[in-house]
Amino acid sequence: MAKLTEIGWEEFSALPLEAKRGYLTRAEGDGMPYHTLFAQQFDRELLERLCALANRIRFINKSKEGALYLKTVLAHRRAMLYFSQPSSRTFLSHLAACQILGITTGSVRDAATSSEFKGETKEDSIRTFSSYFDMIIMRSPEQGLAEKMAWELSNSDRPVPILNAGSGKDQHPTQALLDIYTLMRSFETKGGIDGRTVVFCGDLLRGRTVRSLSYLLTNFRDVRQVFVAPQELHVPEDVVETLKSKGVDYALVGDLREAVKEADAVYMTRIQDEWDSSKGASARIDTSRFKFGAEELALLKPDGVILHPLPRRDEIATCCDHDPRAMYWRQMRNGMWIRAALIAATFGHERAIMDCGY
Ligand code: NCD
Repeated sequence: MAKLTEIGWEEFSALPLEAKRGYLTRAEGDGMPYHTLFAQQFDRELLERLCALANRIRFINKSKEGALYLKTVLAHRRAMLYFSQPSSRTFLSHLAACQILGITTGSVRDAATSSEFKGETKEDSIRTFSSYFDMIIMRSPEQGLAEKMAWELSNSDRPVPILNAGSGKDQHPTQALLDIYTLMRSFETKGGIDGRTVVFCGDLLRGRTVRSLSYLLTNFRDVRQVFVAPQELHVPEDVVETLKSKGVDYALVGDLREAVKEADAVYMTRIQDEWDSSKGASARIDTSRFKFGAEELALLKPDGVILHPLPRRDEIATCCDHDPRAMYWRQMRNGMWIRAALIAATFGHERAIMDCGY
């Protein structure tokens, strides 16, 4: 089995993502991730196992006895939430997932309140967190930082797992897991995700959830991916290259209404203007045709679903919120279950939870 202690940082960081996977799995050989850094770590078998575990945790948690059992599973562990970028859902759902499993948590949400403000390097900060905690859940504006920290920690005398809760414009693997879990649940009794058409709309250039989810969907059979965006914000080349190399049926288009007609799922995203190179650059792009409202809803199949990683601005009209096809609220709660599943599996508790008597 490949080990991060046996490869230098330069050599590791230059590997293609899929080749990095082997270095990030648990040494115990159950195939589950130790560090979770990007979507390329998950194949279909792993996705199905995690979704099954999330279902199991959701079910067990319904009774008081079950919930109390879950709270014992990782009661001896502590997790650090290190979020140096704004977050509501991702922060709170990881926190709630830890609470479900009995994990005690600590957090830094603003680098200005930590010693980074005094000039400490991020490497030293992370090494500090790992002295007190058994897992670090981190969000950062810096692409690749989670990966660097994972390598650093695995090469330290106190390795602890890193869970990437959003890295720059790059990846958001746990969001993609919850998106897949939501799709699985939405199509559970209707033949699953295979053969579906998923339409992505909005800022596809800078939306990290799009890159991660687009990759995870390549694990399913005959899923068509349709990307709808203003020309300036269209899906980046690396995503297209991945789809090409995997023989995925995809299209880049500009007309949301046409795309909605063929969609089984519509994944709306907001304009990520925090990445604008000059102030107000995104505001000058005409995004008016990339919003989902009553007209689009009328075109959506009766069993189609609408997803959104949230937060939303005006890209989904509130008049859609009570339609049974609006899945974004349930999607949010699904995040708590799949994150609890991932954390439990990271610590090697998949089998124990699957086989427990509750
Ligand atoms: C997303 C993110 O942070 O990338 N939000 C989230 O984690 N639910 C999407 C966004 O901010 O638009």
